[in-house]
Amino acid sequence: MNGGGRERHGGQRQDRPPDRRRAGVSEATPRTARRVALDALRRIEQDGAYANLVLGPMLSSSGLGDQDRRFATELVYGTTRMRRACDALVDRFVTSPPDEATRTVLRLGAYQLAFAGVPAHAAVSETVGLAPKRTRGFVNAVLRKVAKSPVESMNWPSEGARLSYPDWMVDRFRAELGDEAEAALERMNEAPPVTERADGYVQDDSSQWVAAAVEASSGERILDVCAAPGGKATALVGGGASVIAADQRPSRASLVQANVTRLGVSLPVVVADGAVPPWRDETFDAVLLDAPCSGLGALRRRADARWRIEPAAIDELAALQASLLQASAPLVAPGGRLVYSVCTVTAAESTDHATPEGFEVDPTPPPVGVWRPYGQGWRVLPQDADTDGMVMIRYRRRS
Ligand SMILES: C[S@@+](CC[C@H](N)C(=O)[O-])C[C@H]1O[C@@H](n2cnc3c(N)ncnc32)[C@H](O)[C@@H]1O
Repeated sequence: MNGGGRERHGGQRQDRPPDRRRAGVSEATPRTARRVALDALRRIEQDGAYANLVLGPMLSSSGLGDQDRRFATELVYGTTRMRRACDALVDRFVTSPPDEATRTVLRLGAYQLAFAGVPAHAAVSETVGLAPKRTRGFVNAVLRKVAKSPVESMNWPSEGARLSYPDWMVDRFRAELGDEAEAALERMNEAPPVTERADGYVQDDSSQWVAAAVEASSGERILDVCAAPGGKATALVGGGASVIAADQRPSRASLVQANVTRLGVSLPVVVADGAVPPWRDETFDAVLLDAPCSGLGALRRRADARWRIEPAAIDELAALQASLLQASAPLVAPGGRLVYSVCTVTAAESTDHATPEGFEVDPTPPPVGVWRPYGQGWRVLPQDADTDGMVMIRYRRRS
């Protein structure tokens, strides 16, 4: 400890190759929920792995029971969402930046202490043991200080740090949602509830409301332009409509196929670029365009997304969506429906799009869901009904 009451960790050793250094931390250590969580966090933070892709296989091979798996999952997703807040809590007691491996352990410890309600003695002692040997004393001292300084009395350096989002994202939410921004951001720091359809498919309520808004009826021909992994397409087919599920990427189309097989529904899956669709004009009674988007309404579900998305992506995605909307419109038969949806809350990706030529907006409220009127469409915010944030616009082709 130095004279200023702050800890200085032992410097990072540079003399071992990185793989050995990482392996050295986990060797001969029993697999506990915290150990698995730490290994997953290292993959996410240091290798740029996707949280949802890395954690499943690690849990499967961990030998952990259900309760420990749930705990490890909470630690990984929670620590990832609250990364910036955890860093701010830790940085009060650190004078020089910890090496990456130590930083990850500190985040894991701070998350347990400040946000997961883990008793301080367990959070500190069980986490310190995971730190690289050379920085264990440092981690122990820092986490003890974090434990003694309640999060409620924290003097946050910024709103971005308190809410644990990049500054640009906080600004964007404020610009889009005004006074509702903070509640939306806070809600997306909580784990989403697991909502299951009658057929067992796990799908957020807001996505189920979008599928319902297509109002598919028996015998209709329906196209889902951007269908993977198939949540909405498999919901649409339940009502007896003839549904085609398309997606541009073969690997994504295989996900739809896997869900179709698992659910035992009849649904052709096609690899096709929605910008140049391989169908004749006026083929479908209804087209669903659940477009690729920034996902800013679903950040609680994709724990690491907030640290990946670049602000410029919003305008790039808006341009892609506009082209998909224009290309999808001619596929709709006269009098038919075109439903546009995105799991984000930005106007650039939704209400700013021009109404396709020959279409008018259907002002009728959607049949199911907690939708608020939003421009010419409908929006649900994460805090409204504990769902993802979503915007939907329903167009109808003039006869
Ligand atoms: C929001 S996801 C769709 C989610 C899906 N509707 C569901 O409910 O499960 C967007 C999808 O659009 C696909 N996509 C992106 N660009 C596309 C394009 N040009 N044509 C068709 N699909 C595209 C992506 O591969 C991704 O699977």
